[in-house]
Amino acid sequence: MVDPMHFEEHADVYRTARPPYPPALWDRVLLLVAPGTRVLDLGAGTGEATGPLLAAGARVTAVEPGPRLAARLAATHPAATVLVTRAEEVELPAGGVDVAVAATAVHWFDLGIVLPRLHRALAPGGRFLVWRHVFGDPDVTTPFRERIGQVVAARSGPGRPGPDAQDAAAVARALTDGGWFALEDTATFRWRTDLDAEQVRALFSTFSDWSPAEVDQASAAVTELGGRVTEHYRSWLLVLRATR
Ligand SMILES: C[S@@+](CC[C@H](N)C(=O)[O-])C[C@H]1O[C@@H](n2cnc3c(N)ncnc32)[C@H](O)[C@@H]1O
Repeated sequence: MVDPMHFEEHADVYRTARPPYPPALWDRVLLLVAPGTRVLDLGAGTGEATGPLLAAGARVTAVEPGPRLAARLAATHPAATVLVTRAEEVELPAGGVDVAVAATAVHWFDLGIVLPRLHRALAPGGRFLVWRHVFGDPDVTTPFRERIGQVVAARSGPGRPGPDAQDAAAVARALTDGGWFALEDTATFRWRTDLDAEQVRALFSTFSDWSPAEVDQASAAVTELGGRVTEHYRSWLLVLRATR
């Protein structure tokens, strides 16, 4: 079973290993954020979403249960209010949030607990923006991705429960099923990046479902393929509106 505290073990490298979200995604997100907007960043990590939100003038409360991750976030983004707790347990005043975000994090939450609590915390017309990276575009085959597919195919045992994280429509259903939120918009952003063997090692070590031996195999594959690979990624975004 994958561990929600996996990222805590990789707090030192998380920020530099993870690629930033694409500018086009931020263009869409920041349509809903103005100076002074009260934003709640759930599962904030080391502040991958907190930083650009603060730069846009938002007042950000970042919720992160991992103490080491939260400490790094607080050091890098002193303007954020950092709460070291889980999304299921955070105490929020009713109507005190204009926009909530969950960046590559919602799949860790118990939605039966989080969604009604979040609904209560959001002001009328409040939005919940959920997005994530999908590392590897299923529509693009590369020699490196074929090697990654072989590593994944050799696995046994259960994966993460709940909807497939790549399947934005399934995640949207899970987020709207309880009636607390309605889907307002969806978008997918395709992008690519070149990575060397060390960058692949650092990035894949942050993946909660990758063992150290598998990370070694991914990094070795890059070396065997010439020392540098082009990765095709997707990032999807769901814009949800709190129902009344
Ligand atoms: C993949 S990281 C995403 C971090 C950051 N938001 C980003 O965009 O890179 C998932 C984060 O969710 C946090 N997390 C796991 N379970 C959580 C929960 N129940 N409530 C809030 N955060 C949680 C982890 O500690 C981790 O920092």
